[in-house]
Amino acid sequence: MGLKIEHQQPCVELSDIAISNTHGEDSPYFAGWKAYDENSYDEFTNPSGVIQMGLAENQVSFDLLEKYLKEQRETKEASSASFRENALFQDYHGLESFRSAMASFMGQIRGNRATFDPDRIVLTAGATAANELLTFILANPGDALLVPTPYYPGFDRDLRWRTRVNIVPIHCDSSNNFQITEQALESAYRDAESMKYRVRGILITNPSNPLGITIERSVLEMLLDFVTKKNIHLVSDEIYSGSAFSSSEFVSVAEVLQSPNYKNCAERVHIVYSLSKDLGLPGFRVGTIYSYNDKVVTTARRMSSFTLISSQTQNLLASMLSNKSFTERYIKINRERLKKRYQMIIEGLKSIGIECLEGNAGLFCWMNMKPLLEGKASREGELELWNAMIHEVRLNISPGSSCHCSEPGWFRVCFANMSENTLKIALERIRKFMERIRSE
Ligand SMILES: Cc1ncc(COP(=O)(O)O)c(C=O)c1O
Repeated sequence: MGLKIEHQQPCVELSDIAISNTHGEDSPYFAGWKAYDENSYDEFTNPSGVIQMGLAENQVSFDLLEKYLKEQRETKEASSASFRENALFQDYHGLESFRSAMASFMGQIRGNRATFDPDRIVLTAGATAANELLTFILANPGDALLVPTPYYPGFDRDLRWRTRVNIVPIHCDSSNNFQITEQALESAYRDAESMKYRVRGILITNPSNPLGITIERSVLEMLLDFVTKKNIHLVSDEIYSGSAFSSSEFVSVAEVLQSPNYKNCAERVHIVYSLSKDLGLPGFRVGTIYSYNDKVVTTARRMSSFTLISSQTQNLLASMLSNKSFTERYIKINRERLKKRYQMIIEGLKSIGIECLEGNAGLFCWMNMKPLLEGKASREGELELWNAMIHEVRLNISPGSSCHCSEPGWFRVCFANMSENTLKIALERIRKFMERIRSE
C-alpha cells in the first residue's frame, strides 16, 4: 500500500501554468461530458440514460477497418516489423514508410489535387499536439492568434494554456451562413491591437468544427491575401477533410497554394492533420504538421520529441495507408455513410420543426434552436435550454456559447459516434420535448 496522504490545506505552490484556468475545462462542453459519464445511455442496461451527442467521433466505418486488420492478420501481411525493430526505434523524424504513406493519404483525401512531400511531414500525438506545437513556434506568450467563431472548444486549452498565447475571435454569424468576411477579419485584428496583442496568425478549421461546412476557395484566397498583407501566418486545421461528403466539395489551402498567384504565400502556411476523425482513431494519437516553411519544419520536428507516435502504431498504419485499394474504398464508403447519417438527422429534425445550417462535411450538424429562446435570446437563455436538453431530454449536445458563437441558440449535435438506432431514439426524445414546449 502506498503512503496514506491526509487531506490538508495545500501550502506548497505550483507553477502559474498549473494554477491558471486557461485549461478550458470549466466550459459547458466538458460539463456535458461529465453528465454523460454519470448516467450514460445503454440500449439494454440504461435506456433512459444520457445520449452522448457532444463527441465528434467517427464510428460509422469501423467495420471496414476491423475487416482489413483481420484479413491482414490472417495473411500475415500486417506490420512485418520485428519486436526488436519496434522496441528500439526512436528517431523523431518518424518512419520513412509511415511519412510516405501519410503524405500519399493526405493527397488522396484531397482528390489528388494537391501533393505532399513526406519530408515536410512532422509527426505528433494527434492534432491537439500539432496545434499547440505550432502555436509555440509561431507566437510568443502574450501574442494572439485570430480564430473564426464558432470554434472547437478544445482550442481554448490547446492554443492558450501552456503557450500563454491569446485567442482573439473573428466573429462570424448566421447572416451569411457563418462565412469569414474581410470586415470580420479586420475588426478582429483591430480588437487585438486595442488589447495591445501582437497578432501572429490566423487559425481556421476546414471543414469547420462545429459548423460542418467546408470553407470556399474565395474565402481561402481572401485569408491568404490578408496574412500576406499583415505578414502573419495561416494555420489550417484540416482534420475533417475526409468527412467532406464529396472530395470535390473540399478545397484545401494546399490546393490554393498551387495556383501561381499564391505560391509566394507558402512559407506562412501550415496544415494540421490527424487520423482521429477520418479514420476514427483518436486513441491511436496520430497527427501531423505539414508546413511549407523549412524553419518551422525543423523546429516542429525537434519539438515533436515531446509528443511522438509509437513506432508500433506507425508500422501498423504505414502498411494500412499504403494499401491504395483499401484506402480508396474506405474514403469513398466513409463519405457516403457520413452523408447518409447527416441526411437522416437533418431530415429528422426538420420534421420536428428544427432547422440546421446546411452542411456538407463533418460528424455533426449545427442546429438552430433560436426560436425556442423566445424572450431570452442570450447566453443565459441558451444555457437554460442546454440544461433542459441534458437533464430532461437526456442528450449531451454542445451549446454554441461553448464554441464562442456570438449568436445565442445554436447547438452542435454529433451523429457519427452512435448506431442509427440510437440516433432514432435521440430524435424521438427531441420530438417529445418539442411537443411539450409547443403545448405549453
Ligand atoms: C478542429 C479540431 N482540431 C483538433 C482536434 C483534436 O484532434 P486529435 O484527437 O487528433 O488530437 C479536434 C477534436 O475534436 C478538432 O475538432
